[in-house]
Amino acid sequence: MNVQNMKKRQIIKTRHLVIHPMTQQHLKFLLKLWNDPEIMRYAGFAKNWNYAQICKWFEKYKKNITKYGNTEIHFIVKLKKEGRIGESGLGRLRSGWSCPNYKAPKNKLALMTDVKLIKTYWNKGYGTEVMKTIVQYVFSETKADILLVPPHKENIPAIRVYEKAGFRKTRGIWYRYHIIYKINKNETNKKKIPSTTFSRYTRDTDSPR
Ligand SMILES: CC(C)(COP(=O)(O)OP(=O)(O)OC[C@H]1O[C@@H](n2cnc3c(N)ncnc32)[C@H](O)[C@@H]1OP(=O)(O)O)[C@@H](O)C(=O)NCCC(=O)NCCS
Repeated sequence: MNVQNMKKRQIIKTRHLVIHPMTQQHLKFLLKLWNDPEIMRYAGFAKNWNYAQICKWFEKYKKNITKYGNTEIHFIVKLKKEGRIGESGLGRLRSGWSCPNYKAPKNKLALMTDVKLIKTYWNKGYGTEVMKTIVQYVFSETKADILLVPPHKENIPAIRVYEKAGFRKTRGIWYRYHIIYKINKNETNKKKIPSTTFSRYTRDTDSPR
């Protein structure tokens, strides 16, 4: 998949949300999310990046997406009536990736994901709607066998979201305070969301803003 094809990838519609691949026009919005200490409290740390730094990150991102396609992708989350409210993304783990007390099987493709929303939209069910959709996307649109999430042990809303989306706690510990939760492909067959559609947009004019 090359960079020109970024706008040809899928757009996902759920009951309340539109979730679509990020492009350069979303960098200022991402900067707002990643620089917010409250949003990033349990999700790493506020990056305090400027626009030039996120542009540099985006150049690397484009190379990854060219190499790995939709297993190394960032999504923008929009509320149908109100616009951008957050982001999610997928990242590949190397074969046999491990952390204390957890090891991904060597012959399986494992991805990691998470979700971040602007605070105004917390506690309205949107985080769960995103994560259920990402689970469905991963196991129907990529070749991944396992999906992992690494919530901080005190991040109760995130843990609830992941549990509601079907993830189970493992004994894995990442960076001391982050617990690895996982879901396998064979656990998701009955978890399809009827109101969710995956479709393609192929012209620039279709590209969501
Ligand atoms: C994590 C996050 C995406 C959750 O999104 P959300 O839209 O608020 O989640 P939902 O509304 O779908 O579900 C939140 C759940 O947590 C529960 N919850 C929220 N605060 C809680 C608290 N202090 N104690 C106990 N439960 C709490 C809610 O009741 C709800 O559970 P329920 O449906 O069983 O009642 C959002 O809080 C966020 O963006 N946080 C900052 C970024 C982040 O930490 N991301 C996760 C990185 S791993």
